[in-house]
Amino acid sequence: MIIGVCGSPRRKATEHVLRAALDMLAKQGFETEFFTVRGKEIGFCRHCDYCLRNKTCAVDDDMHQLYPLLKDARGIIIATPVYNSGISAQTKAVMDRCRALVAADRNCFRYKVGMGIAVGGDRVGGQELAIQQILTFYILNGVIPVSGGAFGANLGATFWSKDTLEGVKEDEEGFRSLRKTIKKFTQSLEELETNRRK
Ligand SMILES: Cc1cc2nc3c(=O)[nH]c(=O)nc-3n(C[C@H](O)[C@H](O)[C@H](O)COP(=O)(O)O)c2cc1C
Repeated sequence: MIIGVCGSPRRKATEHVLRAALDMLAKQGFETEFFTVRGKEIGFCRHCDYCLRNKTCAVDDDMHQLYPLLKDARGIIIATPVYNSGISAQTKAVMDRCRALVAADRNCFRYKVGMGIAVGGDRVGGQELAIQQILTFYILNGVIPVSGGAFGANLGATFWSKDTLEGVKEDEEGFRSLRKTIKKFTQSLEELETNRRK
């Protein structure tokens, strides 16, 4: 299963492109799940270290809906709106709260494949910085990070929304970067599966 995590508090551009990504995967036969922070209560990590002792998070909120999905997934897509040239605070809260999953099983994220999507209102508004944060989260937790490669999707899928849903729908270059990234993402998932069977 592939889990798509939307870090936008709105049903606008970021959710639209993440759903498009999951549709592409579903058409290729992948099982997908969509999770959004929109309308959810997901608090900050409090660094109470409860998870280190008890292997679960003490904060009783909607993050507990996402934990089993992240655990079961073979692939992870984190999609974030660009806020101040980085990821949204909601996306960061999700990442920090993943400490509880790693506390329960330090290999929890190992050999999963991950990609990032960043949607900014400006054409050059910090999309790559935001994706870099997503890829860094993957690297430090053992997720294999993929991008779409050179000539258009260097770090992953980057979109220019012009702050509107209509704007992102018109961003053909953004969708090209998404298709390239999805291609590399599925290739990596398939290669890992083949190696697992050997
Ligand atoms: C607090 C805040 C900070 C933002 N900072 C940036 C920014 O640094 N660069 C940028 O390109 N867009 C910035 N934006 C615009 C959003 O990235 C853009 O509107 C995006 O489409 C929002 O995603 P959504 O449509 O899924 O809500 C910011 C928006 C907010 C609310």
